[in-house]
Amino acid sequence: MCLLASLNPSKYRVFMGPLSPSQLKLRLDNLQGEFHSPIDFGMGFVTKGPRVQRRFSRRLRLMDIPQDLRGKTILDIGAWDGYFSFEFERRGAKRVLAIDAWNGRGLECFLLGHEHFNSKVEYLKLDAHDIDRDKLGAFDFVFCAGLLYHLRHPMLVLQKIRSVCTERLILETNSLIPAVHESTPLITFFPGDDFDTHGRHPGAFPTEAWVSDAMHLAGFARHKIVYRPSFKLLKKLAALATNQPQKGRLIVHAFVD
Ligand SMILES: C[S@@+](CC[C@H](N)C(=O)[O-])C[C@H]1O[C@@H](n2cnc3c(N)ncnc32)[C@H](O)[C@@H]1O
Repeated sequence: MCLLASLNPSKYRVFMGPLSPSQLKLRLDNLQGEFHSPIDFGMGFVTKGPRVQRRFSRRLRLMDIPQDLRGKTILDIGAWDGYFSFEFERRGAKRVLAIDAWNGRGLECFLLGHEHFNSKVEYLKLDAHDIDRDKLGAFDFVFCAGLLYHLRHPMLVLQKIRSVCTERLILETNSLIPAVHESTPLITFFPGDDFDTHGRHPGAFPTEAWVSDAMHLAGFARHKIVYRPSFKLLKKLAALATNQPQKGRLIVHAFVD
């Protein structure tokens, strides 16, 4: 594990980046197709089109993240190009640490935003399985979106998350929608992203019941579901017709006390 970040105390401003339009265009062209999120670099440069912009605006709204994060410390796990980390900084968070396995060029995307926005978000290339409170410290909020179903040991990672979380976990994940037995705490077997699943196991998708039980086992005192998959009944019918469980987004806030 190596700490890559050095802090820059300047404040993040969306439209006052240090790169000129021509420099920015060159750097963005070099990362063509590598961004996952619609990052608005200003001067008309947004890394994704209107459809993805709408999807991310909706995600942000549904996640119910406090608008005012002043004074909060936040760990963003699976940060990729930094969309959410930069947003937390914009909302006034005191400390943001972005971690990711960063196997592709996501870190380059993150670093371009980091430079352009003069961001003080800290970052660390780290596998979520290796989260360690002694090395990272503790965080008021832990944010974990689109990560759980990538993990080989999701329960273990939730326990590690709890060990660094002092207030609230915000978890967004794909969940499993079986035709029946939805109230059973099921999760699909998934050996991890590095393993060939022959297309059979696209991720560790848990039922809502699994997520609820896992939150308790990880040591969270309570949790609330803030979003359940849309078109759930139709998905259950599709699961029945195809004999394949379907999936849909689930958002949970879990509290330490
Ligand atoms: C689907 S993307 C989610 C990105 C972003 N959080 C979002 O919700 O839009 C999953 C991210 O998790 C990262 N990731 C996958 N497995 C990981 C692991 N074991 N530890 C840390 N990061 C991981 C990937 O590199 C990728 O950036």
